[in-house]
Amino acid sequence: ATNRTFTMIKPDAVENGHIGAILEKISASGFRIVALKKTQMTQVDAETFYAIHNERPFFGELVSYMTRGPIVAAILEKENAVADFRTLIGATNPEDAAEGTIRKLYATSLSENAVHGSDSDENAAIEGAFHFSGREMF
Ligand code: CMP
Repeated sequence: ATNRTFTMIKPDAVENGHIGAILEKISASGFRIVALKKTQMTQVDAETFYAIHNERPFFGELVSYMTRGPIVAAILEKENAVADFRTLIGATNPEDAAEGTIRKLYATSLSENAVHGSDSDENAAIEGAFHFSGREMF
């Protein structure tokens, strides 16, 4: 079925000038852009968005990385969006990511891995609503 996922182009990829290339790859892979904006997460935003990781040793590093500069947030629509987007971005660690995936091409490291992709339909809806109001979705 057609459904939606949520993504962020993370601060390292924005800093390295990859916004255009990543959006082009997303579009060329058949995803329709439902919502799109450049924004910057506050500390509270990042602590809330990544609350599931708050016991992890890398939580502080993750929050400072995700707040250090702007991101591009987007809601994407396609058949089988969540799973197909995770295939397109590749493994969390770019060293393990398949050739041609967004993380293989553009990620810096395990901790600075260029893009986010929701891990379920439920989280896609929660994460999309975290960043966008209904009036920003088309
Ligand atoms: P993602 O899987 O999108 O969401 C959790 C993020 O935490 C992950 O991307 C990385 O950016 C970061 N992360 C995951 N594992 C580690 C780790 N071992 N050390 C530092 N950062 C990590």
